[in-house]
Amino acid sequence: MSKVITNKIKKSISELVGKTPLLEIVNYEKENQLEAEIIGKLEYLNPANSVKDRIAKAMIEDAEKKGILGSGCTILETTSGNTGIGLAAITASKGYKLKIYMQDGVSEERTKVIRAYGTEVIPFSDVPEVAEAIEKTEGDFVEVINVFKKAVVEKEENVVFLNQLENEANPKVHKETTGPEIWEDTDGHVDILVATVGTGGTLSGAGAYLKSKNPNIKVVGVEPGISSIATLDNPDIVEITGVHRFSDVGDERVPANVDQNVIDEVIEVETREAYEAARAVAKSDGILVGTSSGAAIWAATRLAKRPENKGKRIVVILPDTGLRYLSTDLFE
Ligand SMILES: Cc1ncc(COP(=O)(O)O)c(C=O)c1O
Repeated sequence: MSKVITNKIKKSISELVGKTPLLEIVNYEKENQLEAEIIGKLEYLNPANSVKDRIAKAMIEDAEKKGILGSGCTILETTSGNTGIGLAAITASKGYKLKIYMQDGVSEERTKVIRAYGTEVIPFSDVPEVAEAIEKTEGDFVEVINVFKKAVVEKEENVVFLNQLENEANPKVHKETTGPEIWEDTDGHVDILVATVGTGGTLSGAGAYLKSKNPNIKVVGVEPGISSIATLDNPDIVEITGVHRFSDVGDERVPANVDQNVIDEVIEVETREAYEAARAVAKSDGILVGTSSGAAIWAATRLAKRPENKGKRIVVILPDTGLRYLSTDLFE
C-alpha cells in the first residue's frame, strides 16, 4: 500500500493536548431555573484526561528548550495526581525517566494510572521530612515543597524538579492556549470565567488572557470552604482534591503561580456541595467530572442565580474526569 501523506495523523500524544470543547449544560440550567448560561470547558477530554496535560507538555517542552534535560537525568514532580498522570503519559512517549512524589490519601486510581505509564510513584509519607512538614503545617503545600526541595531535590544527583507551583510555564500555557480557546470558541462572548485554584495556573493564565481581550470579563476563583479542610483535630475530613484555600491565608502560603491581581472574586465551596453538583451534571447532561469540577459548577450556579448576571455567559473550567474518583464516595 502506498504511503499517503496526511497531517491529520498525529505522531505523539503531546499533539493531542488542548483544544478541548465547550459544552453548555442546558438541562442542568433548566432544572435549576438559571437565567444565565453555564458553559463547561471539558478538560477531561485531554489525552491523559485532565487540564494538567497542558502544563505537563508545557513544562517538559520548556525544560527541553532550556537544555536542562540531559542524558540520564530524572524528572521529579510533586502532585495530588493529575500533573503526575499528564507527565507520566508525556514522558513515556518522549522516553524520559520520571519519579512522582504524591500526596497521600488521594484516590488510588491516580497511583495505578501513573504506574501503568511506567513511572515510579513515591508517597509523601515515605519521605520523613515531608511527612513531618505536612503534619506540622496541616498540609500547607507551599511549605511542603520548600521542605521537599531540601530533603529530596538537593540530595539527588542529575534530577530536574519541575515544580508546578512556581514554574512559569504553568500559567503561561493557560495564557497561550486555554484562554485563547475560550475566547475563540465563544467568539469573544464571555462574561465570567470560573475555575478552582490549586497551583493557580489555570485561573491566572486563562484569566489574564481573557482580561487582555476584554477587561470587563470577571474572573472568579473557587476555594474549599473552611469545613472542608482536614486539620490535626479532624484529619478525616474529605477534601476537594487538588484545590486549596488562598484568599485568607498568609502570603507565604499562596503559590507563586496565583496572580491575585487577575482574580475579582473568590467563592467558597464545601466538599458536599461539590459532590452534589458533580452528581447532578452526570445525570442531567451526561458529563462525568471530578470533585473540583463539581465545586466550580456549584460556584457558577451561585453566580448564575444573581439578578445582575441574568443573560450572562459563565465559562467554567472542568479539570478532570469522574472516572478518577470511582474508588471514592463521589458517585456512591
Ligand atoms: C483535580 C484538580 N482540579 C483543579 C486543580 C487546580 O488547577 P490549578 O493547579 O491550575 O490551579 C487541580 C490542581 O492540582 C486538580 O488536580
